[in-house]
Amino acid sequence: MPKALVTSALPYANGPIHFGHIAGAYLPADLYTRFRRLCGDEVHFVCGTDEHGVAITLKAEQAGQSYESYVDHWHEVIQKALARLEIEFDVFTGTSHHRNPEHRALAQQFFEDLDKNGYLLRKTEEQFFSEKSQRFLPDRYVEGTCYLCGYEKARGDECPNCGRFLEAKRLKNPVSTIDGSSPVLKETTHWYLDLGKARDTWLREWIESKTDWKSNVKNFVLGDLDELRERAITRDLPWGVPVPREDADGKVLYVWFDAPIGYLSISKQHWEAKGQPERFEEFWKGEDTELFHFIGKDNITFHAVVFPSILRGAGKDENGREWIVAKNVPANEFFNLEGKKFSTSGGWSIPDEAVATDPVDTLRYALTAMMPETADSEWTWEEFRSRVNDELADNFGNFASRTLRFVERFFDGTIPALGELDDPADRELYEAIETARTESKAHFSSFQFRKAAGDLMALGAAANRYVDSQEPWQLVKSEETKPRAAQVVRLCVEALRCMALCGSPILPNTARIVREALGLEGLAPGWEHLTIDTDKAPFGTDSWTTAAMPSRRLTLAFQEFTDARGKTVRALFQKISEDRVTEEKKKLEAAAAAADTGSSEATESKFEPLIDTVEFDTFVATDIRVGKILECEKHPKADRLLVTKVDLGFEQRTIVAGIAATYAPEDLVGRMVSVVANLAPRKLRGIESQGMLLASDGEDGKPRLVSPDPDSPPGTRVG
Ligand code: 2FM
Ligand code: ZN
Repeated sequence: MPKALVTSALPYANGPIHFGHIAGAYLPADLYTRFRRLCGDEVHFVCGTDEHGVAITLKAEQAGQSYESYVDHWHEVIQKALARLEIEFDVFTGTSHHRNPEHRALAQQFFEDLDKNGYLLRKTEEQFFSEKSQRFLPDRYVEGTCYLCGYEKARGDECPNCGRFLEAKRLKNPVSTIDGSSPVLKETTHWYLDLGKARDTWLREWIESKTDWKSNVKNFVLGDLDELRERAITRDLPWGVPVPREDADGKVLYVWFDAPIGYLSISKQHWEAKGQPERFEEFWKGEDTELFHFIGKDNITFHAVVFPSILRGAGKDENGREWIVAKNVPANEFFNLEGKKFSTSGGWSIPDEAVATDPVDTLRYALTAMMPETADSEWTWEEFRSRVNDELADNFGNFASRTLRFVERFFDGTIPALGELDDPADRELYEAIETARTESKAHFSSFQFRKAAGDLMALGAAANRYVDSQEPWQLVKSEETKPRAAQVVRLCVEALRCMALCGSPILPNTARIVREALGLEGLAPGWEHLTIDTDKAPFGTDSWTTAAMPSRRLTLAFQEFTDARGKTVRALFQKISEDRVTEEKKKLEAAAAAADTGSSEATESKFEPLIDTVEFDTFVATDIRVGKILECEKHPKADRLLVTKVDLGFEQRTIVAGIAATYAPEDLVGRMVSVVANLAPRKLRGIESQGMLLASDGEDGKPRLVSPDPDSPPGTRVG
C-alpha cells in the first residue's frame, strides 16, 4: 500500500491561528490527506505547535509568563481552532520538552550527526548585544531596515516583506526590540550549518530535477541558491533545545533547526504511544514513503533547502538507511481578508464568534474555493455568500434534494435500476460523471484544490441541467414513460454518488449525509469504485442497502432550516443573507477602528513601558538618600553636565549630573535632592561622580530633579 507523510507548518505557539493560516497550510494538507486515504493509501498526517525561538520567548517575557505556561495556552487555542475546521491530524503535539519528550534527544542527535559528517562549522563572531538589558539580541530581538528590500521592520533573522534570510549585522538602523536601545556588537560562539556544501554536493541538482513542483516554489528556491552560505543554528537564549556541547552553556538550537525536526519527533511520540515504535522509521526512512510539506510561501526556504539539508546531512544509519526528503513542497501564497492582511491585534480578522454557527463544510468549501494556490487571494464576505448560496445551496444542495425527493416520491424510497446508456442525454451526463471523477482525482493529486472544487460544481451544473431537460416529474406520470423516469433518477443518483465522493475531502460531513441518505455504507475506499460498469448491477463496489428499505424518507438526513420567508425547509445547505454580509463587514471595520484607536493611543503614549518586576530584596539594595546641594558649577568639558557638591549629612560627595539643559548652577545651591548613594563611582568626562541625582523628564523632555520634602534632613534614607 503506498505510504505518504503529510506535514503542515508547525504554528508558533504565540498567538491565535486565523483563516489566512488555515487556507495556506492546514486545509490543503487535510484535503490532500483525505484524498489519498480515499485512494486507499496509508497516510500519516503530522503537526503540532512550534514552541521555541524568539517569537515565543519575546512574547512570553512581555506577558510576564513562564515559557511553558505561555506555550501551553496557545497550544490549546490553536488546537481547538484547527479542530473546529475538522483538520484531521493523526497527531498534534508540539516541540517543547514537557509536551514532547522525544524532541530534545532527536534534535540533538541531528546536531551530532551533522557535525560528524562535516556539515557544522563553529565560529566566534560579533553579534548584537543590548547593554541596557545585558543580553544578546538574536533574531526578532533586533529590528531594522532590510538591506535587500528596504522594508523598515525587518527582523534579525528574516524579512517578513521579501521573505529572505537576513544577517542581523547587516540590518540598517538596528534597534533592540526589548528595550529600544541601539545594540552594540559583542563576540559569541555559535555553530553554523554549511548549506553551501549541501548545495554543491546534491541540493541544486535535486531541486532542478523537481519537475512537478509549483513554479513559484522552485523559482524562489533556485533564485536563492547562489547566495546560500552557512547559517547559524544556535542562539544565546534561555529556552529551547540545549546545544549538546560542554562549553555551550546558555545556548540552544535555533528554532528553525529544531522545529522541522518536530515533524519527526512528533511522529515518533505518536508511534511510541501506540506501541508501534518501528513504524516511525518505517515511514521516515521508508524508500517508498512520499513526504509532503504544506506551508505558506514565507516558509519555502526552510522546507525546500534547510530541512532537506539537515535530513540528508545526517547521513546513513548503521543499517545503511537514511531519512527521506520532501517529494513536494506545495507552498501557498498569502491569504488576506477583504483586501488587507489578517491582523488579530489590528482587529482585521474573523473572530470565532463570527463563524460559530456556520457549518464547517461551508467554511471548508469557501476556503478551498478561495485558496491562494498560485497567487495571493482573499476572503471576502460577499464571496463567502456567493460560494455558499450559488454553489453549495443552488447547485449541489438543490441537485441533492431534487434527486433524493425523486427517489422518495416516485420510487417509494428505493433506488431504481439502471438500464442501457443509449439516450444521448444519459451519455452526456455519464461523460460528465466520468470527467468529474478523473479530473478531480488529477486536481487533488496535483494540489489544485480550487479546481477540484470547480469539478464538483461542474458536475452539479451538468446534473441540474439534465434534470431540467428530462423532467422526471412528467415522465413518472404515465406507466409508459415511468421506466424512463427510473433511468433518469438512477443516473441522478449516480451523479450524486460521484459528487459525494469527489467532494468528500472538502465537504466530509455533506458527503456522509448524502451517502447515508442513499443507503451507502461509509465511504468506500478507492476512487475507481465510482466507475459505472453497465454490465453489472449494482454498479461499482458500493453496497446499496436501500432496496431493503422501502418507503424511506431520504431527505430526513438533511437539516431543517428557516428560509428567507420564515418557512421551515429541509436542505443540505442554508443560504446566507445579504444582511449578514453587510453586518460582518460593518463589524470588521468597527473592530479595526477600535484597534487603531487603541494602538495609536499606545504609540502616542509619553510613558515608557514598565520594566520587569523586581523582588523587594532587589529594590532595597539601592540606597537612596536625601541630599542638599552645597555648591554647583558647569562641567569644564561638557555643556550638558553640572558638577555638584552634595551634603549627605554624614559626608559630602561630588556628583556629576546631566541637568545643565534645565538648571543654571546658581539656582541649585540649597536645593534638596534625592541621591543614589551606593552607586559605584564612575568618571564623567574626567570628573569622578560619587553617586547619582534622581531626575525625570519634564513635558519639554528636559530633566527635572526629584526633590524630597524639605523637612527630611540630609542623609535620611528614601524608600
Ligand atoms: O512560520 C511559522 O509559523 C513557523 N512556526 C513554521 C515552522 S514549520 C516547521 F518547520 F516546523
Ligand atoms: Zn526584505
